[in-house]
Amino acid sequence: MKPSKPVILTGVRANNNIHIGNYFGAILPIINMAKRRSDEYDINLFIPDLHSFTTPIDHSKLYDSTLNNARVYTAAGLPLDNPSVHLYRQSYVPAHSELAWILDCFTGFGEMSRMTQFKDKGSKGDASVGLFNYPVLMAADILLYGATYVPVGDDQTQHLELTRDIAERMNRKFGDLFIVPKPVIQQHQFFGKGQGLRIKDLVNPAKKMSKSDESGKGVIFLSDDPKSAHKKIMGATTDSIGKVQYDKENQPGISNLLEILTLVRQDAGREVTLEQTANEYFGMDRYGDFKRIVADEVAEFLENFQNRLAAVDEQAIEEKLASSEKDMNVVANETLYRVQKAVGLRK
Ligand code: TYM
Repeated sequence: MKPSKPVILTGVRANNNIHIGNYFGAILPIINMAKRRSDEYDINLFIPDLHSFTTPIDHSKLYDSTLNNARVYTAAGLPLDNPSVHLYRQSYVPAHSELAWILDCFTGFGEMSRMTQFKDKGSKGDASVGLFNYPVLMAADILLYGATYVPVGDDQTQHLELTRDIAERMNRKFGDLFIVPKPVIQQHQFFGKGQGLRIKDLVNPAKKMSKSDESGKGVIFLSDDPKSAHKKIMGATTDSIGKVQYDKENQPGISNLLEILTLVRQDAGREVTLEQTANEYFGMDRYGDFKRIVADEVAEFLENFQNRLAAVDEQAIEEKLASSEKDMNVVANETLYRVQKAVGLRK
């Protein structure tokens, strides 16, 4: 089973802390493509379970949280009955790890050391080699299927560039081995955005909303009780300027809320742009009132999402995983074999 169409691919690390940044940055863009363009593209939404323990986790929960990602994708609208949609777990397709090793040997220590994600997280103590190395595994995830479009949030675009560099380097050395993903600018155009999405932490809007936030106060998780999410938005850091406007530089908190409001409205099926939302509330001087509007709509979004999550068909998910994993092993092994031949491991 070889995908005959170009591939759109993405994944979200498995843990039970999927937040609205993950949802709007990666999950929703690919699901929208699955709904609208699956006649032209194969859609690979996978669960990078091997990526899930680059930092310490509770391993007794990993298996279920992996399945939870599949539930979340389904609740977000992934059409499981569409044959162009592939839902699979990374570790069930061993070619990911094998290709990653080969790519490792064509990747420089220097270029890996420049990865800002590692510099941010890895500098906090005794980081694992896995954390250092995972962008290469990510490159394997993408190149195995020849994905052209890879919706990711802004924090992952550097890894996408790395993937392109590795693919181009190996193509130069061995001939046309890999399909190179499109440059990041073209990716943004394809997904209808000017730039990569970076939802900010509510308490500290200078940094991105992140799963690893310890207090959780600045992060809206998809599993948050809508009431507590409401409180988090009401407590979001703003500024002393006292006028709602989209100005990321001087009003990062308010600008972040405007982005979030636009996204939840789009998710509810409203055709609205950030610019329109910003115009609608431009100049409003009572931040409390503005926050309440955002908080109400976010709480409603969560409630709807959680209702859909509670209703997903577990059996349909298990069946889809099994059939996609079978198919994806065939596709991935074909690429792996081509690479093994190129590097001299196979005749
Ligand atoms: P992960 O699991 O950290 O994040 C999943 C996706 O969510 C995006 N994201 C955000 N987008 C907007 N605002 C935010 N605050 C925010 N925080 C996270 C991330 O950019 C990402 O797109 N290595 C990847 C997972 C992965 C992958 C892949 C992705 C593994 N292999 C192959 C694409 C293709 C990761 O750890 O993402």
